[in-house]
Amino acid sequence: MRFDVITLFPELIEQYCSFSIMSRALKNNVIELNTVNPRDFTVDKHRHVDDTPYGGGVGMVLMCEPFFKAYESIEKMPDAQAIMLTPQGKKFDHGMSVELSKKSQLILLCGHYEGFDERIRQSLDVLEVSIGDFVLTGGELPSLCLIDSISRNIEGALGKIESADYDSFSNGLLEYPQYTRPVEYRGMRVPDILLSGHHGEIEKWRLKQQLLRTHQRRPDLFERFSKRADLTKLEKKVLDEVLGEI
Ligand code: ADE
Repeated sequence: MRFDVITLFPELIEQYCSFSIMSRALKNNVIELNTVNPRDFTVDKHRHVDDTPYGGGVGMVLMCEPFFKAYESIEKMPDAQAIMLTPQGKKFDHGMSVELSKKSQLILLCGHYEGFDERIRQSLDVLEVSIGDFVLTGGELPSLCLIDSISRNIEGALGKIESADYDSFSNGLLEYPQYTRPVEYRGMRVPDILLSGHHGEIEKWRLKQQLLRTHQRRPDLFERFSKRADLTKLEKKVLDEVLGEI
């Protein structure tokens, strides 16, 4: 998977990706990262990338030319997908993360402070993506959210112990509670079941905790899970148990 990020602040992207799991994934060639700065494609003396909006109004608008040129400078793979980060886009979630992780190349367009000239949206066949109903000052953080989350789905990015299979959302439910040493801390004990060594019982307990937690915090996800046609025997059994208790 190759990420090409069009950004006025390439260092923000590169710095984040130089730590922890992202840096290891880059080193192991599981992912590739390339940044392109539209400012490098300006022709005027002051290297402007924005201008005042036609029709008046406050703020500035990101100009076509530097963004088109930056986009055109990127070598495209046949299944490349361009993504524009904007609060007006489709809401990003685990499902979209998994789908996008099947691509060989994602080209991420980050705005900053101001909006894009509409013709950038129109011509570049971009998928507009939002990371939530709030406004950030730029597309770099949303881009990093996508890069981080999508990379986790790619084979080899996570070590065995960090496996994404056990994450929240991997089975459509929130995560179960986790504990580590010591057994007792400030009067709070680790549940006995986790110390029992009964792997089958532990698996069942964890699933039940996932269901209870999801029912309490995300009734929408609980509802969706309970209607799934592909539940395993264990999932059906524990779901029935939980439905009898809530
Ligand atoms: N740019 C600014 N705010 C954003 C958001 N919520 N999602 C994606 N891109 C953005």
